Amino acid sequence: MSKSLLIIGWGDSSETDKNRVRLVKYAKRAGFEVQAVDYHKLELLHPFKNNTLNVMLFFPYTFWNENCEIPDDTGLYGTSEKAYRLFANFLMEIQSRLESRFSNHDLKFTTPLAYVALDRDKIQTLQILNNHDVSTSKTLSYETLPDILDQITPERGIFIKCRYGAEGKGITLVKPNRWLTNYKVERSQLANYGVYEKWNFTDITGKKELLKQLIEQEVIVEQEIIPRDFFGGKKYDVRVYVVSGEIPHFFVRINDLESVITNWSQGGRIIHSPETGLTEDVVERINTEAKKAAEVFHSKLMGVDIMLDQDSNVPKVLELQTFMGFPDIRKFNLAGYLVGSSFFH
Ligand SMILES: Nc1ncnc2c1ncn2[C@@H]1O[C@H](COP(=O)(O)OP(=O)(O)O)[C@@H](O)[C@H]1O
Ligand SMILES: [Mg+2]
Repeated sequence: MSKSLLIIGWGDSSETDKNRVRLVKYAKRAGFEVQAVDYHKLELLHPFKNNTLNVMLFFPYTFWNENCEIPDDTGLYGTSEKAYRLFANFLMEIQSRLESRFSNHDLKFTTPLAYVALDRDKIQTLQILNNHDVSTSKTLSYETLPDILDQITPERGIFIKCRYGAEGKGITLVKPNRWLTNYKVERSQLANYGVYEKWNFTDITGKKELLKQLIEQEVIVEQEIIPRDFFGGKKYDVRVYVVSGEIPHFFVRINDLESVITNWSQGGRIIHSPETGLTEDVVERINTEAKKAAEVFHSKLMGVDIMLDQDSNVPKVLELQTFMGFPDIRKFNLAGYLVGSSFFH
């Protein structure tokens, strides 16, 4: 019998909707029974024939734009626990509505929604991964600003990141003589750039007042990972796609060493597997950590971001993405792979 697929969540532009559109197209072409609706249109769903129902979610743009990342918000981006709770509750509500709507079906979520929500909280994510022996970037504890500044060494600075952020926004790096933030600096206040603006870094070296403001918010403080030199001294991280416990594709994002972050929304070069030049044993170690992370989150489909530190053979997981961008279609057709493999039940 053909498979059934329920897709929830439309993009807010043709760019953010393209992966969903592609997945629907391939699934229909393969003879799947497909329905795709946005989160606020669940009442439009019809019955499905199969008992087993695959459920795949895309990012809830409508809800997020209206409730979580509001343009005139005066709070610092990515630090609102209230916005996070709203988002997490919203997802749990969706799960229970689907479960009651399709109570006579066996629902197969690509990732359980409790874990999808959790993945937006950087502190909890790293803690849970650590509890399950996944190697991650190191979280530092602190009470006051001097506690943080004392942990800076000549070799390693510290990253202060908003706890609930994404896309490389709201990142601060404090090195001995170089303090940089990509929050907007207005007079002596930290503020936000626009939702679709480029979040450029500002030099705030020595401006303790700004760091004090920052650490009063919901942030995570991490030791800086110094990348092992594989790409001509440049900074890079590795995005690994874990699909049903396998790694069909990964890529490396490379930026100048001074550029602080490697997110593609902020510029940077990308090299896809199998052309990265990383040796087989390094790739093996990266894949092992990525698979462990996806397993801890009970996820069949996850993007795992990993860095290689110069002082350790064990790759470090930086963050997880259950709502992730798909790789460049010319390099790896993820939607095609999902439909063509045994990923869906
Ligand atoms: N502890 C760290 N050491 C070195 N680089 C880091 C560290 N944390 C973050 N980065 C850099 O900043 C980028 C953004 O951080 P990340 O935790 O992935 O936040 P976001 O959710 O905004 O993408 C990473 O891709 C990496 O390049
Ligand atoms: Mg990231």
